[in-house]
Amino acid sequence: MNNEVDLKDKKFEIFITDDEIASIVTDVSNKINNSFIKAPIFIAILNGSFVFAADIIRKINIPNSEISFIKLSSYFGTRTTGNVHELIGLGKSIENRNIIILEDIIDTGITLEKIISLLKKENVADIKIATLLFKPEAYTKDIPIDFIGKSITNDFVVGYGLDYDELGRNLQHIYKLKE
Ligand code: IMP
Ligand code: MG
Repeated sequence: MNNEVDLKDKKFEIFITDDEIASIVTDVSNKINNSFIKAPIFIAILNGSFVFAADIIRKINIPNSEISFIKLSSYFGTRTTGNVHELIGLGKSIENRNIIILEDIIDTGITLEKIISLLKKENVADIKIATLLFKPEAYTKDIPIDFIGKSITNDFVVGYGLDYDELGRNLQHIYKLKE
């Protein structure tokens, strides 16, 4: 196992091994399977959560589960509307459906809050949130997070889908920035 990786100008050290990630994924999927959520649509937030989503979905045994992938994009609207956000990738209607958001990491919660407000406009029945990693010290929102894989310190991490400037998503372990 590589205990250190270099990405661009930065060094990262091993933080969460693939074995630990696997047990976190099993734990989160067990909790979701036992949650009595009916016919959920899992919505994975691209790009970071594609690896987590692929591992989680294969452990879900709730009948009639579906998965879809979306991306939050932002562009500048008019001077009065400022920065406008939209969800790309939502194909068919999700009206009256039970949504489970799949995130790789929740940091300040700003992204999550925007995604939730946009999903609510689609008149969904319910929204639950599952995240692999959570940084409680950085979180600024009141939105409760239903399924947390692991709470971590306020460090910058890469690997298992998470990137530093688009690099490191392919790493099988999770690494943190070396001071
Ligand atoms: P938030 O809006 O501050 O919660 O940030 C959420 C997004 O920032 C995540 O979906 C990631 O794309 C990115 N992010 C936050 N912390 C990290 C990190 O430690 N490593 C890689 N990406 C991160
Ligand atoms: Mg992300």
